[in-house]
Amino acid sequence: MADTIPTLTLNNGVELPALGYGVFQTPPDETVTATVEALRVGYRHIDTAAAYGNEREVGEALRRSGVPRDEVFLETKVWISDYGYDATLHAFDKSAGKLGVDTIDLLILHQALPSRFDLTVEAYQALETLLADGKVRAIGVSNFMPEHLDRLLAETSVVPAVNQVEVHPYFRQPDVLAANAKHGILTQAWSPIGGITFYRDTGHTSTLQDPTILRLAEAHGATPAQVMLRWHLQQGRSAIPKSVTPSRIAENLDVTGFELSAEELAAIDALDTGRRGGPEPDAITLETFGREIPEA
Ligand SMILES: NC(=O)c1ccc[n+]([C@@H]2O[C@H](COP(=O)([O-])OP(=O)(O)OC[C@H]3O[C@@H](n4cnc5c(N)ncnc54)[C@H](OP(=O)(O)O)[C@@H]3O)[C@@H](O)[C@H]2O)c1
Repeated sequence: MADTIPTLTLNNGVELPALGYGVFQTPPDETVTATVEALRVGYRHIDTAAAYGNEREVGEALRRSGVPRDEVFLETKVWISDYGYDATLHAFDKSAGKLGVDTIDLLILHQALPSRFDLTVEAYQALETLLADGKVRAIGVSNFMPEHLDRLLAETSVVPAVNQVEVHPYFRQPDVLAANAKHGILTQAWSPIGGITFYRDTGHTSTLQDPTILRLAEAHGATPAQVMLRWHLQQGRSAIPKSVTPSRIAENLDVTGFELSAEELAAIDALDTGRRGGPEPDAITLETFGREIPEA
């Protein structure tokens, strides 16, 4: 099944499967089973993070699955508490140690630290060193707004390969999508089926029950999640849906059997509420979000 998922090429020539398997909020004791299942049904790209506390279990799942290491694109993120040149170099050792790998395919900064951009730049410079040393195959960022990208690009030399940001039908961030495209940065959608609109009790309604999404799902004999994932793929994004439910893990990978029209894609675009589900990127500080990432 994996060979039917489109491949995207990053700005440094490295390829990755457009659809990955996300493990945010997957408890460590469920991560091995769920990730083995994802690999069994054909996912070949996994997105974790030091801050998720389950890198060790992702590595264990990879080994248990029997899928060769070089067939799986492993992506993880450095948490803000490990920003700074030396600290970020060490963050690679922690993540690689927990994952049980020598090389990480894509290592990204989890957030910008707008009030300590000096540390953010140092962290990124460490990623540049890791890239030059061949310890990571690509580097990037997450939750960077256009002004953060401008600041980073002015002070560093490698253009990020990826900017992983909140993108789903209710929060599309067109300004971020445009800035990424302008710089040749691949947009990777987190909460791609709108998870954050329904698993957080913030009064959001669910993208899974949106009338337009339901109408398109019925028209194509697909599920609401499949329609949203198809929308990402047809617009050239990478997407990393999360599920611990075997039927949904398989459903979310089975998205190549139908095509949305330009009008249908535009109808999904038009659902944007402009309302962010995740934290405001400018509100991320070490004081409010800092926490220690354990050693490997
Ligand atoms: N960079 C960042 O700051 C950041 C932030 C958030 C997320 N992420 C990444 O993005 C990944 C995905 O985001 P997310 O987990 O927030 O949201 P999501 O993938 O949009 O949604 C996940 C939620 O949807 C449910 N679900 C999954 N497939 C479904 C289906 N086919 N039908 C109905 N419900 C379904 C899951 O439930 P079950 O698991 O119970 O099946 C879970 O509650 C994360 O795992 C993580 O890797 C990154």
